[in-house]
Amino acid sequence: MYGMGFDHSFGLWFMARWLKPDLMIESGAFKGHSTWVLRQAMPETWIISLSPRHPENVDWGSVLMKRGISDLSQVLVFFDDHQNELKRLKQALTAGFQHLILRITTILDLEIIIP
Ligand SMILES: C[S@@+](CC[C@H](N)C(=O)[O-])C[C@H]1O[C@@H](n2cnc3c(N)ncnc32)[C@H](O)[C@@H]1O
Repeated sequence: MYGMGFDHSFGLWFMARWLKPDLMIESGAFKGHSTWVLRQAMPETWIISLSPRHPENVDWGSVLMKRGISDLSQVLVFFDDHQNELKRLKQALTAGFQHLILRITTILDLEIIIP
């Protein structure tokens, strides 16, 4: 299964509503279900959705400046891209992001949340 089920969808929706970020970044959109969930949670908030065609090394400083975001605690990052989760965690923390949700689709179908 590629897309999220009800449990992870609700979790993502709830955390987005709870955090009320100024920007949401998603890596791994597939057919757009999680993008839709983020949109339902925060109808007016910008979403940056990354696909495998985007470069690995994004200049987040200029991306955030373009959107007028200076406080990284106002950004929610959601990973659901089948990449190495430890690598993603390190990349996100190195870039200064603080609110991370990593969806890990193993046999256990875990969700790790750093609120
Ligand atoms: C589990 S699916 C995403 C499911 C989606 N979040 C949903 O709710 O339906 C994983 C997606 O990650 C994408 N992907 C693979 N490598 C990627 C990368 N390096 N960067 C971003 N997305 C990637 C795949 O194309 C695939 O669409």
